[in-house]
Amino acid sequence: MSVVVTGATGHLGRLVVEGLLDAGVDVVAGGRRTERMADLDARGARVVELDYDRPATLADALAGADTLMLVSGSEVGRRVAQHGAVIDAARAAGVRRVVYTSAPHADTSDLVLAPEHKATEELLAASGLVTTVLRNNWYTENYVQALQQAAATGEIVGSVGQGRVASATRADLAAGAVAVLTGDGHDGRTYELTGDHAWTHDELAAAATQVLGRPVTYRDVTPDEQRAGLLAAGLDEGTAGFVVALDQNTAAGALGDATDTLRTLLGRPTTPLVDGLAAAWSATA
Ligand SMILES: NC(=O)c1ccc[n+]([C@@H]2O[C@H](COP(=O)([O-])OP(=O)(O)OC[C@H]3O[C@@H](n4cnc5c(N)ncnc54)[C@H](OP(=O)(O)O)[C@@H]3O)[C@@H](O)[C@H]2O)c1
Repeated sequence: MSVVVTGATGHLGRLVVEGLLDAGVDVVAGGRRTERMADLDARGARVVELDYDRPATLADALAGADTLMLVSGSEVGRRVAQHGAVIDAARAAGVRRVVYTSAPHADTSDLVLAPEHKATEELLAASGLVTTVLRNNWYTENYVQALQQAAATGEIVGSVGQGRVASATRADLAAGAVAVLTGDGHDGRTYELTGDHAWTHDELAAAATQVLGRPVTYRDVTPDEQRAGLLAAGLDEGTAGFVVALDQNTAAGALGDATDTLRTLLGRPTTPLVDGLAAAWSATA
């Protein structure tokens, strides 16, 4: 079996490539900036240029592959066309199976980031390719920024109310992807992949207290107050609006549905919030 992994220059794609190499799988690591993957080449991956916007690179990268791990792109607003180009190239190359990283409940969610994932899932369903969809919940690492705020002020400020987040570490989500890529019985399945526990921002503050070794509290504000605070801190209108919208999605429960699917794939509990945060925090030091 050979697996082509896209986005292998990114955080998640790299972890998936490393996990597949550890499992003895024949891996093609695809990305725009091949010079960033020299270490993966040294470890035995075949490193190829793979740019969603350049179809010739897709055809070359996918030639002869059995399985494609399509890590969703990071250029919000352009991703449906980009993912569509990869799916078309996979079909043309005779790839049998695609595993795609999506968003929680992408088909029904109000999450601001869900529509591109929903559209990609629809392209995959229409493609005729054997597909597994990994609907990854939020990365625990996303909350390092909240820890930075907490380290400076002793507070985490948001408008999520009691909305819960069933986050998981990138390492756990990558290990789940490797389990799917190397295991049987996953064809045609859609998995909601989450941490074992959906936490509140009061629990986030308690975890931050442990990681930082100083008291941290969560202060809930209205969306308007949050937007004003973000603008005062120097964020532009678009970014501030995006952050507030994500908090409103969280408040409404868009990230709060914990499942045991990732735990089952891993064969062990997922990494607790405080441990995932501590690792991510020390990586920033
Ligand atoms: N669940 C979550 O909390 C969460 C959070 C953020 C993002 N995501 C999604 O999950 C994906 C993986 O997460 P991550 O942490 O690994 O993100 P990341 O570190 O930002 O990596 C994104 C990857 O996508 C690649 N990419 C973007 N546009 C591309 C293009 N036109 N052609 C080829 N490659 C392209 C990037 O390549 P370059 O290195 O060349 O830029 C990079 O390898 C993200 O891309 C995003 O779709 C999920």
